[in-house]
Amino acid sequence: MKGIVFLDLFPILRDPIAFETLITHLVHHITTHTIPNIEGPRKKIDVVVGLDARGFLLGPIIALRLGAAFAPVRKKGKLPGECATATYAKEYGTDSFDMQVDAITPGQNVVVIDDLIATGGSAKAAGELVAKLGGKTLEYVFVIGLDFLKGHEQLDAPSYVMVHVE
Ligand code: ADE
Repeated sequence: MKGIVFLDLFPILRDPIAFETLITHLVHHITTHTIPNIEGPRKKIDVVVGLDARGFLLGPIIALRLGAAFAPVRKKGKLPGECATATYAKEYGTDSFDMQVDAITPGQNVVVIDDLIATGGSAKAAGELVAKLGGKTLEYVFVIGLDFLKGHEQLDAPSYVMVHVE
């Protein structure tokens, strides 16, 4: 699109050392900053929720390292079984996300992950789905943040961004 600099995660995935470093950094952040802030005796991230589509590249690896489940938030109509739905605003019109209702057990601790936060609309919808299923979002984690769009102001929990774009 004219005038938009598309920020692309894929060159990092071409370089195994860069990708390993990225994943290690995000897991280190979660284990040192997110988990110590969980209230109550359990002190564990139970579910990593990844957003369609590039959140699917990061989420399962982070979930494995944390010993947590991974659950996808997908574009509407693609997931089998009973789903909860949330609608969000896009640049032109709206879109909807689905989540399988059995992906989260009420009371579970959740981290939501995506590669990039822009206006925050899709992450906000993911947070609404987690809340609908009874989960507690501890943090939203992103590799890149377009800070000037103030997406973090849309969210119901703190966000962590590795690379801030002013
Ligand atoms: N999603 C919204 N804005 C974006 C951008 N500039 N690059 C990549 N993904 C985006």
